[in-house]
Amino acid sequence: MPSGPRKERPLLFQLPRIASSCISRDGLVTTPDLKPSLKDQTMQKTALVTGAARGIGLATTKLFLAEGRRVAMLDRDAEALNEAAAGLENALPIAADVAVPDQVNTAVETMMGAFGRIDALINNAGVADFGPIAETDFQRWRTVMETNLDGMFLMSQAAQEALIASQGAIVNIASISGLRASTLRTAYGTSKAAVIQLTKQQAVELGEHGVRANCVCPGPVNTKLALAVHTPEIRAAYHDAIPLNRYGGEAEIAGPIVFLCSDVASYVTGQVLAVDGGFEASGVGLPALRS
Ligand SMILES: NC(=O)c1ccc[n+]([C@@H]2O[C@H](COP(=O)([O-])OP(=O)(O)OC[C@H]3O[C@@H](n4cnc5c(N)ncnc54)[C@H](O)[C@@H]3O)[C@@H](O)[C@H]2O)c1
Repeated sequence: MPSGPRKERPLLFQLPRIASSCISRDGLVTTPDLKPSLKDQTMQKTALVTGAARGIGLATTKLFLAEGRRVAMLDRDAEALNEAAAGLENALPIAADVAVPDQVNTAVETMMGAFGRIDALINNAGVADFGPIAETDFQRWRTVMETNLDGMFLMSQAAQEALIASQGAIVNIASISGLRASTLRTAYGTSKAAVIQLTKQQAVELGEHGVRANCVCPGPVNTKLALAVHTPEIRAAYHDAIPLNRYGGEAEIAGPIVFLCSDVASYVTGQVLAVDGGFEASGVGLPALRS
């Protein structure tokens, strides 16, 4: 005998059910073809991309759309977001701040209401604020941590049930600064190193529920974020230190992100992928050693 009433899952997280039969105009019960075409199956898949109004997030959104996914684009810059989403078919702009729990929960509810599922969560929203340790006060530290680390934690927690239901994937965007220490990055570099560990925790624990989690660590990429903290001298020094001798393009980061969410990567989880033109590999790539 059951001990009590069965606990219903909240409606929000129930996957949309495909009707097994329907009544035609003449009253006959018909069974529709339940085998959607491959294209339809792909169209059903979705992705939630944070920081999608520009830069790497926008490039990732466009690539997912080109692959046939529906994409929820989340960003706290509502104006830039609406501008970016205008004209993008199958894209749903959601204005929210990943560092504010209520907004995160509402954003996930909005996406579930519109799409009914979350197949991929791309925790991409990030801020860069570089400064010496002596000038990094608690407020500065918190400003970086609340988006770069708290935001990824909050988004992942809110989307977890839906990701389990879809057997989906998480990709967290860290940075080469999470793998290699440098000056001025006590908050930024530490937040990104924590994102790498958060990814491994998620991979190990959520793997048992069929959810994969991987981390992408971009090297320097030509975006507004990089332009704000890289002077011309820093740019030249990066070119010199990177084996491919250049900054990456946004689409070059989007490609590996989309790959990690795809079925082709179905056995890849808990991995940290540096997408950096070889920067991480070049431990003693000193200019003097090369000349
Ligand atoms: N550009 C680089 O050189 C580089 C290198 C390594 C890692 N990364 C990482 O890649 C990610 C994307 O960087 P980008 O260069 O495209 O940055 P970007 O500044 O061009 O875009 C970031 C987007 O995130 C949004 N955002 C910031 N904080 C948010 C918050 N709390 N809630 C919601 N949205 C928020 C911004 O409004 C913006 O639209 C970041 O996590 C960044 O740390 C970038």
